[in-house]
Amino acid sequence: MTDLDSVGTCFTGRFGSQPTVVARAPGRVNLIGEHTDYTGGLVLPFAIEPCVWVAAAGTAGNTMTAYSEAMDHPIEFSIDGSPTTKPDRWGKYVDGVVAELRAAGIRVSGTSLWIGGDLPIGRGLASSAALCVAITQALLRLYRPSDDRDQLETGPAPLATHLAVARLVQRVERDHVGTPCGIMDPYVCLFGKRDHALLLDCRTDTHEYVPLTLPGFRWMLIETGIVHQLASGAYAQRVTECNAAAEAIAKVAPGVRSLRDLTPQTLEEYVPHLDTVLARRVRHVVTENDRVRQSVAALRDSDADRLGACLLQGHRSLCDQFEVSTPQIEELVHVVSRVSGVVGARLVGGGFGGSLLALVRQQNAADLRTTLDKLPSRTHLHEGGLLEVYPADGAASWAL
Ligand code: GLA
Repeated sequence: MTDLDSVGTCFTGRFGSQPTVVARAPGRVNLIGEHTDYTGGLVLPFAIEPCVWVAAAGTAGNTMTAYSEAMDHPIEFSIDGSPTTKPDRWGKYVDGVVAELRAAGIRVSGTSLWIGGDLPIGRGLASSAALCVAITQALLRLYRPSDDRDQLETGPAPLATHLAVARLVQRVERDHVGTPCGIMDPYVCLFGKRDHALLLDCRTDTHEYVPLTLPGFRWMLIETGIVHQLASGAYAQRVTECNAAAEAIAKVAPGVRSLRDLTPQTLEEYVPHLDTVLARRVRHVVTENDRVRQSVAALRDSDADRLGACLLQGHRSLCDQFEVSTPQIEELVHVVSRVSGVVGARLVGGGFGGSLLALVRQQNAADLRTTLDKLPSRTHLHEGGLLEVYPADGAASWAL
């Protein structure tokens, strides 16, 4: 289901009326720059075609009724936010968006909301950010007067509306759902551009587009078969560790405000002030920022081999220093990176499951499939657990 008509039909099938707005928000693949966004670092993600669709219409009264195809059950809560009606599970995302919009002065009232799409959940493709962005964009279409475009803006500097939405979504994940994530996922979901990756600087929340055309190569996503769950603790623990490391370093190096201020060279000066776990975490973050820069340079030179080497080094660092891989994932990386024509592969997203991204020579894409097909007992969502991805445009919304 990838067009406005079929989304409208699904809404009507569920609620018996026509939707008045529709929004779509894509998933993302992070090429490199993993676990750096919440330390003010650099990331290089791109939006992909699989996306979340939302259709909505206002209703009389003050009730939000949302139905998610993926979850296959409706939720209902009162929009005035009375505590007894707070939804749990995936409803927290819907509730969080409504609460944040209302806090920003948008008068959300009774709404029917249908949620669908083809973006897999728990595959490291930022499905929760896409869900929140799609809901936010649909509700803004529905409830924000068109002459009031800057209503979401906060702080003294005028900001682009997309950035305000990205920050709103980050607050939903952080304050309403309990995942202390960075801004990368909603940001790329909104600013994504066909054929481009975004070099996003998470210290300034600004980006530049980097063309992502490597003739003769393909980007393939490989499911690990392990669904990951960010709010489950290990992600938050990494965030805490990075903050603790930055604080410890700031004590002995007053000029260092965040891990972003360190280079692989200056880092070694401060490592003796950290325990071994924190030292490993910082090594990953600091070298990963460097790999993002090297990857951008490799892309600009159309040097797929150099880029592939960065991906593999990034994966090693995620596994050995940041410790977000598992033996099962390591086995898969080992197999994938030995397929002829695979120049690089790495785990993408928060870790402990999700998907691998591989850069493969076009003529060897079939070899990768054959190899994966021979592996025993893999759980697949897509055919063969393999999906080719292309850099796609960011979120959009329509009034019908
Ligand atoms: C998740 C978070 C992001 C980012 C990645 C790891 O996707 O939502 O903010 O931290 O993990 O790079």
